[in-house]
Amino acid sequence: MADLDDIKDGKDWGEDRPVDVSRFFLKGSEHYDWGMKARLSNIFRPESGRTVMLAFDHGYFQGPTTGLERLDLSIAPLAPYTDVLMCTRGALRTVIRPETKKPVVLRCSAGNSILTELSNELISVEIEDAIRLGASAMAAQVYIGAEYEHKSISNVVKLIDSGTRYGIPTMAVTGVGADMVRDARYFGLATRIAAEIGAQLVKSYYVEEGFEKIVLGCPVPIVIAGGKKLPERDALEMAYRAIDQGAAGVDMGRNVFQSSNPVGMLQALEQVVHHNMTGADAYALFQDAKPLNAD
Ligand code: R5P
Repeated sequence: MADLDDIKDGKDWGEDRPVDVSRFFLKGSEHYDWGMKARLSNIFRPESGRTVMLAFDHGYFQGPTTGLERLDLSIAPLAPYTDVLMCTRGALRTVIRPETKKPVVLRCSAGNSILTELSNELISVEIEDAIRLGASAMAAQVYIGAEYEHKSISNVVKLIDSGTRYGIPTMAVTGVGADMVRDARYFGLATRIAAEIGAQLVKSYYVEEGFEKIVLGCPVPIVIAGGKKLPERDALEMAYRAIDQGAAGVDMGRNVFQSSNPVGMLQALEQVVHHNMTGADAYALFQDAKPLNAD
């Protein structure tokens, strides 16, 4: 039985004892089988163990939000500059050329809109279609503490079970309802639950206080969402801090496609994520970067 009054902050996070990744480059992944490891190696670069994902799945509940009005114009040309595309099957089939050859993390939940309760989702893609599309991973939200927590966990469990049957990883996206507190305790709880139910990778938000503990308490790789559009300098600094504190990459949307120079942001993020460039240096790179169609 749960003792709610016994939820305490952990003490021994083993900061000085890194997880053993000598047998496979990715945290917590050494016991998976070949197909699962191969797909994870599409998503995360083996040489850095990290990834830059471009998230443009927002339309599945937000409609044509700023920067995503015309995916063919704003997003398709960015594909060469990212490691991974994260999107719905509708966006993939309509605007991304199959020759693009970028791994896809496929949004496989839906069923809500910004006008209704966000946590009330269902599985929106059958495993057969994820396979047909060549997805490198599937993704769905877990809404811990929200009205439909149980349903969202059930969605992710079903994806994990079907994905495991075919060697396709599942990314659990820690969704937050409008009134929920976004702190280390919340994301520590949500990311750990996601990993314990079997998600092979987890998406979280970055928090200023205690992000290292979120990473240490989660036995699988964590990538961060960008959240609302920030000034580019701040977004790059956030990415740097997250990487420095153990994140395995970014899965950013608005801070890329709403930027004045999305290509410059992706180039700067690549340096931060794969080459440990500081936020300040990455911002200098961003300022010098040529936008698409500059010539
Ligand atoms: C949110 O549910 C979606 O998965 C977004 O793709 C995600 O939040 C990342 O986008 P952003 O960086 O704009 O927060």
